[in-house]
Amino acid sequence: EQCKDPNGLDKIILREIRGFSAQVYLYGGQVTSWKNEHGEELLFVSSKANFKPPKPIRGGIPICFPQFSNHGSLEQHGFARNRFWTLDPNPPPFSTNSHYRAFIDLILKNSEEDTKTWPHRFEFRLRITLGPGGDLMLTSRIRNTNTDGKSFTFTFAYHTYFSVTDISEVRVEGLETLDYLDNLKNRERFTEQGDAITFESEMDKVYLGTPTKIAIIDHERKRTYVLRKDGLPDAVVWNPWDKKSKALPDFGDEEYKHMLCVQSASIEKAITLKPGEEWKGRQEISAVASSYCSGQ
Ligand code: BG6
Repeated sequence: EQCKDPNGLDKIILREIRGFSAQVYLYGGQVTSWKNEHGEELLFVSSKANFKPPKPIRGGIPICFPQFSNHGSLEQHGFARNRFWTLDPNPPPFSTNSHYRAFIDLILKNSEEDTKTWPHRFEFRLRITLGPGGDLMLTSRIRNTNTDGKSFTFTFAYHTYFSVTDISEVRVEGLETLDYLDNLKNRERFTEQGDAITFESEMDKVYLGTPTKIAIIDHERKRTYVLRKDGLPDAVVWNPWDKKSKALPDFGDEEYKHMLCVQSASIEKAITLKPGEEWKGRQEISAVASSYCSGQ
C-alpha cells in the first residue's frame, strides 16, 4: 500500500495478518513506524522530526551508510538517510520457506553528486519484511559496482529508535562485560563492568563484538524488545539525556525519557568490498510481553 504524507513524500505501509504494521519512507529508506496488533507504536519518532528533505528524519530506523557518525570525511552518518530510495517493482523472491511475509525492496545507487564526496559506484538493496508474528526484519545487501577496479570501505548502522515508557526503568541485556568505545570520551576503549546496562545519564557507546541477541526490557510497559543481528558485530547504545536533547533542534526537551537507540552496526572494523563483491547485514526486532519480573 503506497501513499503520500502531508509533505508529498512517498511512504509504504506493510501489514501483517494479526494486525502488526510498519511504515516506510522512500526518503532515507527509513522505517518510521512499527505498530503491534493493538496499534501501539514500538518505535520512537520525535514530535519535532522534520519530514522535509534534505534533513534526516529523527526517529524510526535511519540507515547510516557509508559512514557511521563522524568517523570519516563524509557528512554525519553518511548520505543514505537523506537520499530518495526507489521501490523495486519486481523484487527477487525469498529463497527459503513459503510463510506469508509482507516485504518490500528499496534500492539506493550512487548519484553523480555523491561520487564527488565518495567516489564509488554501489547498489544497496534494503529488504524490509514484516514477518508472521510481527517481527520487523531489515536485510541490507551492498554491492561494489565500481568499474575502475577499486575496492571501497564503509561503516554501517541500523540506527534503531525504540519507544520506551521511562528510560530510567529500562535495562539492556547482552552487553555486560563487553569492551566498548565511549563516544563521550574521545572514543576511548573501556570494559563494561557488572550487570545489565541501565540509564541515569547521557550514553553514547559502541559495544564491540557483541552477541547476536540483545534484549531491551521496558519494565514499566512489561515489554521486551529482542534484537537479533547477523553480519553486524557491534551495537551502539545512545540516549542524549537532558542537556543534549535541548541542543538537538529536531528533538523535544523531555523526549529522551521515552526513547533508546540500540543499533546493529559494523564500526570498529570497516567493511571492504572488491568490485563485484556483496556484503549482507541483517537486523530483526520483535516485541514480546514480559509478564515475568526479571532481576529477582
Ligand atoms: C548516535 C551517535 O548513533 O547518533 C551519536 O553515536 C549521535 O554520537 C547520534 O549524537 C545522533 O546523531 P544525529 O546525526 O542523528 O543527530
